[in-house]
Amino acid sequence: MPNFPEPQPLTSHGPARIIAMCNQKGGVGKTTTTINLGATLAEYGRKVLLVDFDPQGALSVGLGINPHELDKTIYNVLMDRDTQIRDVIRSTGLPGLDLLPANIDLSAAEVQLVGEVAREMTLQRVLRPVVDDYDVVLIDCQPSLGLLTVNALTAAHGVVIPLECEFFALRGVALLVETIDKVKDRLNPGLEVDGILATMYDPRTLHSREVVARVVEAFGDRVFHTVIGRTVKFPDASVAAEPITTYAGSHAGAYAYRLLARELIARGDAA
Ligand SMILES: Nc1ncnc2c1ncn2[C@@H]1O[C@H](COP(=O)(O)OP(=O)(O)OP(=O)(O)O)[C@@H](O)[C@H]1O
Ligand SMILES: [Mg+2]
Repeated sequence: MPNFPEPQPLTSHGPARIIAMCNQKGGVGKTTTTINLGATLAEYGRKVLLVDFDPQGALSVGLGINPHELDKTIYNVLMDRDTQIRDVIRSTGLPGLDLLPANIDLSAAEVQLVGEVAREMTLQRVLRPVVDDYDVVLIDCQPSLGLLTVNALTAAHGVVIPLECEFFALRGVALLVETIDKVKDRLNPGLEVDGILATMYDPRTLHSREVVARVVEAFGDRVFHTVIGRTVKFPDASVAAEPITTYAGSHAGAYAYRLLARELIARGDAA
């Protein structure tokens, strides 16, 4: 395992770098990475906003919020000009870690946004008032390349692509990269792929090692040195509705996400 220096504390906050967690393949670790990278960046004193951009609301649930009971969610922020983003953002209870929650209402936005002016820029526009309050904004995308994901890519400075270490991991990544390139070309010239993150790595299997080798072959230094191991502590922590840092703070899984936070900061992809 590589090492990265302990990040220096920040003396002031913002403006945030916005990072979209993106892969149209389901179950690769987008939500787990959003929660736990957010939690470790907050441990290092960063002010972090997590944006639930999946109508399934898994990010909100994973932080202990019942999304069906919410009066206002990101849906209202996107679709209703009278809803202020600050009134919908809530604290997760962990210092420095806030959440903009979502629920199934968001699925309607995908359809309703189609008729809007600058429909791809809606998320970028609604995040603008709070960008100066945070050091990092992490957007948890849904497993699709539809209009919501295009909104996330348009709002973002960088994309992190989690890839599960299994045989078909690279299938679909070409299409994802093509979508990122189109958004970069037409809507968001500054967009960068910050990195590919290998998740659910099992060091005991040759197979996991082969997948990582193939991913490195394909993407070179865009692959994070940090690799997230496969452990039941992640599903356990999400059942407990906590990041792994509070659920099992000295477990290897917590260290892996601390290392990812350090790597991101060391690479200049976060403050
Ligand atoms: N490193 C890991 N080791 C073991 N299990 C993991 C790991 N990372 C995530 N999981 C589990 O795998 C499942 C899928 O993870 P997660 O929800 O983060 O993926 P996702 O990409 O957000 O999925 P979706 O596309 O459905 O939104 C969850 O049950 C989660 O707890
Ligand atoms: Mg998810």
